[in-house]
Amino acid sequence: MTRDDTFTSAKPGDGRTWIFGYGSLIWRPDFEYREQQPAQLHGWQRRFWQASPDHRGVPQAPGRVVTLVRDAESVCHGMAFLPAAKDWSHIIALLDVRERNGYELHHVEVVFDDGQARPAVTYVAGPQNPSFVGPAPFEEMVEQIAHAHGPSGANREYVLELSAKLADLGVHDDEVHALSDALRRYPA
Ligand code: SIN
Repeated sequence: MTRDDTFTSAKPGDGRTWIFGYGSLIWRPDFEYREQQPAQLHGWQRRFWQASPDHRGVPQAPGRVVTLVRDAESVCHGMAFLPAAKDWSHIIALLDVRERNGYELHHVEVVFDDGQARPAVTYVAGPQNPSFVGPAPFEEMVEQIAHAHGPSGANREYVLELSAKLADLGVHDDEVHALSDALRRYPA
């Protein structure tokens, strides 16, 4: 991986810091950006370990959405977006509302396909937040996701959309792949 002076001197909002999405931000960023690039985040793993009582479920029947958990050996593939400096504060304010259920902004470094590292921010719902539910037996997760619906739609669609977008990027993610396969077979 290579870093140039963009990396060392960048500050969020100066037009050089990217926003890394690894879940719904990949297919529905809902903000203006100047550029987008497939990107990797090293040392983090995408997991369906965050309950969604507000987007893909309801408080009585929360869905499951992705967060990132630290894992030194893992690489999470997603999409990075570069907003214009003038839009930064507005976008972060919107995303802070959208990701309000336990997600916090983290400063990270993403790596593009050409090996260039870039400064970025990403939303992580850490193990201390009240909606962090961690792992569950696979069949339980499938059942929970298959039945959950919330204001943003069916939890099942979230998984299938993520799976389709990762396939477009040529990315294989074991958990996303296994869940989407099982959900396609799950009786409607
Ligand atoms: C993300 O997409 O980067 C955050 C998780 C989500 O909103 O699905």
